[in-house]
Amino acid sequence: MAPILGLSVGLVLIVALAACGGGASSDDDVVEVGSTVYQRDCMICHGEARTGEGGLANAPVHGPEGHTWHHPDGQLKELILGVLDYPQKTMPSFVGKLTDSEVDAVLEYIKTGWDPPQLEYQAEVSRRELELSGGEESR
Ligand code: HEC
Repeated sequence: MAPILGLSVGLVLIVALAACGGGASSDDDVVEVGSTVYQRDCMICHGEARTGEGGLANAPVHGPEGHTWHHPDGQLKELILGVLDYPQKTMPSFVGKLTDSEVDAVLEYIKTGWDPPQLEYQAEVSRRELELSGGEESR
């Protein structure tokens, strides 16, 4: 009796994990949150996430034509929060305005505008960034 119960619990777990990996509802929820944040706080300058349409001339396009996808996750989150400093910075700071998970979500939303080779490249530079930081995710 007990082994059969164990087996079915195992199967349920496998099915649940497979659902997570397959871009199921929880991922969609994150992208949904990201889309709301993007439209509220970013679109006015950056325009449409993939094309930059409707944005300001000086705000970079996040889509395949831009170079946002050259940056690793940790750096992008710092850029989005505005904690990175660089000359002639005009991007506003979102410290205290966006939560950590909103920053993650808006980044996931931006990534939906990238093509597979860019996603692959950016995943690789993000892995390297993690390795360099000693395995801790930098934020
Ligand atoms: C007031 C206009 C403005 C708003 C609002 C704004 N940005 Fe920016 N952003 C810029 C500008 C301009 C730059 C170019 C760097 C600079 O001038 O600071 C930039 C740079 C960036 C970069 C680096 C891009 C790259 O390709 O290297 C990212 C990522 C970014 N913004 C994301 C966001 C996100 C996400 C939001 C919303 C939460 C947002 N920005 C809101 C104007 C804005």
